Amino acid sequence: MVARIRSYFLVYFISVFAAITGLLFGYDTGVISGAILFIRKDFHLTSMMTGMTVSAVLLGAFLGSAISGKMTDEIGRRKALVIVSIIFVIGTFLTAIAPNDIVLIFGRTILGMAIGIGSFTAPLYLAEIAPPHIRGFLVSLNQLAITLGIILAYVIDYFFAAHGDWRWMLGFGVLPALILFAGTYFLPESPRWMVLKGMLDEAKENLKHIRATEDVTRELTEIQQSVQEKRGTWRMLFSKKLRPIMYISLGLAFFQQVTGINTIIYYAPMILQQAGFSEATTAILATLAIGIFNVVFTVIALPLIDRWGRRPLLLMGLGGMFISLVAQSIGFYFPELVYLRWLTVGSMIFYIACFAMSLGPIMWLVISEIFPLQIRGVGISVAISCCWAFNMLVAMTLLTLIDAISISGTFWLYAVLCVLGVLFVYFLVPETKGCSLEQIEKNLRAGRAPRELGLALGKNKTLSGLPIIQPDIEDVVTE
Ligand code: BGC
Repeated sequence: MVARIRSYFLVYFISVFAAITGLLFGYDTGVISGAILFIRKDFHLTSMMTGMTVSAVLLGAFLGSAISGKMTDEIGRRKALVIVSIIFVIGTFLTAIAPNDIVLIFGRTILGMAIGIGSFTAPLYLAEIAPPHIRGFLVSLNQLAITLGIILAYVIDYFFAAHGDWRWMLGFGVLPALILFAGTYFLPESPRWMVLKGMLDEAKENLKHIRATEDVTRELTEIQQSVQEKRGTWRMLFSKKLRPIMYISLGLAFFQQVTGINTIIYYAPMILQQAGFSEATTAILATLAIGIFNVVFTVIALPLIDRWGRRPLLLMGLGGMFISLVAQSIGFYFPELVYLRWLTVGSMIFYIACFAMSLGPIMWLVISEIFPLQIRGVGISVAISCCWAFNMLVAMTLLTLIDAISISGTFWLYAVLCVLGVLFVYFLVPETKGCSLEQIEKNLRAGRAPRELGLALGKNKTLSGLPIIQPDIEDVVTE
């Protein structure tokens, strides 16, 4: 009993530290929303340069997540987290002391690299350390940490807004980075990675320590078996048989971003100013409320994802996001009407709630569920990199779009993309609720249609009654 409690305590301790990476992800992407109001004035930024200052983090994150699969395999998960924390410290420092916009953009790119590597490594490390029955919860903890990081950023923005201290806003991020750095000293290396590197004795000792028991033979054997399988490569990902999985994960990453979430997370105060809240502190305060709703609805969503399922939440969430985008668009069209300003803030909050209960956590969850084991690392890395690329696309184009088709028109565009998202989810995304990862993999091997990957049906049955597409696949990842 004592050993079990000790083991749980250790796993939660490890998870909380690893999730600080998520917190930094949220902090460093969110903090810019308030800081940019003052940076813009200090450095006389054009719309283009403003977009670049916000998006440099995303470029770095794209590069970071693209190299992270290989890097974590080479040097290990723990060392990768140590490096992540060091890069966070260097990047934060650079941005806080930046004498001009070029150094600032360079520093933000470095920070982004840390976010990108971290956004891959932390969930992977959590999934490898966690006992299977609490794995889903622990992986979702990462999304919760992201939202908490965003709100911390908004609080800090609000705090320093009175004097326009954007350097302190950016610099504060060094604190969680140092905590992460100190924490990595206590983090054990992932036993799965040690087995991968042939360090069997060390892996066994580590596993005994994490599980607080001497009896780890079964788990170790399972790890050895999974590691012995042929490892997947990038080329396999784009093989015909794995293409549906790629479509689903890239589609989810695409819709998570192009429906406009980060126009609110990164630019809310600026958008609110355009909607009529001219005081910077009032705009940041309203943004703070948005951040609080993001956290609250993420917490509400966590148990519902396994109870209601992924698809209903995604469909309802996207529907709600559509309605609120249309409402915001109307509000922005008449900035002089005071009562419509409140419609704008209200619908922004509704939008955040809908996102937090759907695309927010579910994108990360589903991409970690649907890839076959052999290809999971590379697959997730590609999906996450694309997510960052789409994120960058939206952040970089927002201001130019606003200049071209007005803020109201821009939100209409995101609303239309929500409708396409509904169609995408309805026709392609599988319901993976309660389905084991092995069953999902079996369905894929049996050639079931994308939407049916999460179903535990009889061998030759499909939901639609249509025949199974490729019944003779022996191994989906070896062409
Ligand atoms: C998304 C981020 C977003 C955050 C908001 C995450 O799932 O990937 O782009 O800023 O949610 O909570």
